[in-house]
Amino acid sequence: MKALVYGGPGLKSWTDVPDPAIENPTDVIVRLDTTTICGSDLHILKGDVPAVVPGRILGHEGVGHITEIGSSVTTFKVGDRVLISCIKSCGSCSNCKIGLYSHCLGDEGVSGIGWIFGHLIDGTQAEYVRVPYAENSLYLLPESVTDEEGVMLSDIYPTGFEIGVQYGGVKPGDIVAVIGAGPVGLAAMATTGFYGAARIIAIDLDANRLEKSREFGATDTVLSGTADWKKSVMALTDGAGVDVAIEAVGVPDTFTMATEIVRPGGHVANIGVHGKPVQLHLENLWIHNIWISMGLVNTNTTPMLLKLVESKKLPVKKMATHHFTFDQFLDAYDTFARAAETKALKVIISR
Ligand SMILES: NC(=O)c1ccc[n+]([C@@H]2O[C@H](COP(=O)([O-])OP(=O)(O)OC[C@H]3O[C@@H](n4cnc5c(N)ncnc54)[C@H](O)[C@@H]3O)[C@@H](O)[C@H]2O)c1
Ligand SMILES: [Zn+2]
Ligand SMILES: [Zn+2]
Repeated sequence: MKALVYGGPGLKSWTDVPDPAIENPTDVIVRLDTTTICGSDLHILKGDVPAVVPGRILGHEGVGHITEIGSSVTTFKVGDRVLISCIKSCGSCSNCKIGLYSHCLGDEGVSGIGWIFGHLIDGTQAEYVRVPYAENSLYLLPESVTDEEGVMLSDIYPTGFEIGVQYGGVKPGDIVAVIGAGPVGLAAMATTGFYGAARIIAIDLDANRLEKSREFGATDTVLSGTADWKKSVMALTDGAGVDVAIEAVGVPDTFTMATEIVRPGGHVANIGVHGKPVQLHLENLWIHNIWISMGLVNTNTTPMLLKLVESKKLPVKKMATHHFTFDQFLDAYDTFARAAETKALKVIISR
């Protein structure tokens, strides 16, 4: 089969590799119909994730059909159309039992790490993929949900919702600021609406992404490169700050920004993957009664999000901005890597 193979920092190719095979009775093989590229894949290609070794097939998002099942898999059959979750979950370890799939102790990749596809085992940017713990890591896709809608639930929508909105404790009437209007930040904005936020303030450096954010529920936008960005945010509150500040970028500056605009008693929910240490100004913050949360997505809300996609209540389709076929994989990477110029959000790659 063909797959997108990591060759070391800066190196990738769409090339011939052996087909995957069932290794454990709980595995299935999925023939990918649609996949996409995540910002994390770009981090890997920069060499920021040393656990990814040359030869690894990248990708952790996808939709496809089951072509082979392991001997103990009973809830799926060959031919089923499924959504692949970016997180493995064995379903029976102590962390899975409490819904903390991101720390599944199952012995695939590394025990205790849920994100293994395209990281510690071969991923979904391929014609076929082996899916471990298939009964818990796959979701049957209703016919009415298209591939490109489904693939948005592999990673970005559960991430924005669980780590931004749920961990941020959004309540009816809240003023919520989302720093970073990339796919994950937009997913957080779209799902913040579930809890009846009164105002959703999108904050980004990119005017195009701010404009786009209104389609995902933002009521106000603030360009963050300007000297008075903070004054603009405060003017949209009663002067005290926002109830919930969601960080969806992953750099020190934006985490600090979130702590500067949150009101006393409010929440800072960090979604961003950080590669550098962040200064936490406890000398100022301690007295403000602030909650700070962070984490890796669990994808335990995928079934709920899937119902909302099915009933057309989530703006998932608008996230797909560019379309490619498998043999154009390198063009898809190029378009995604130049998102500021190409205005790409999610690039869809299909068979
Ligand atoms: N916690 C998790 O489980 C999890 C899962 C998936 C992704 N992530 C992380 O979420 C983050 C967002 O992902 P994405 O795919 O949307 O990324 P992205 O790079 O597409 O979007 C980031 C956005 O932040 C904006 N930005 C950059 N600097 C800024 C600044 N100073 N002020 C305001 N905006 C700024 C950019 O213009 C861009 O629109 C990344 O760090 C990603 O690794 C976390
Ligand atoms: Zn991802
Ligand atoms: Zn587990």
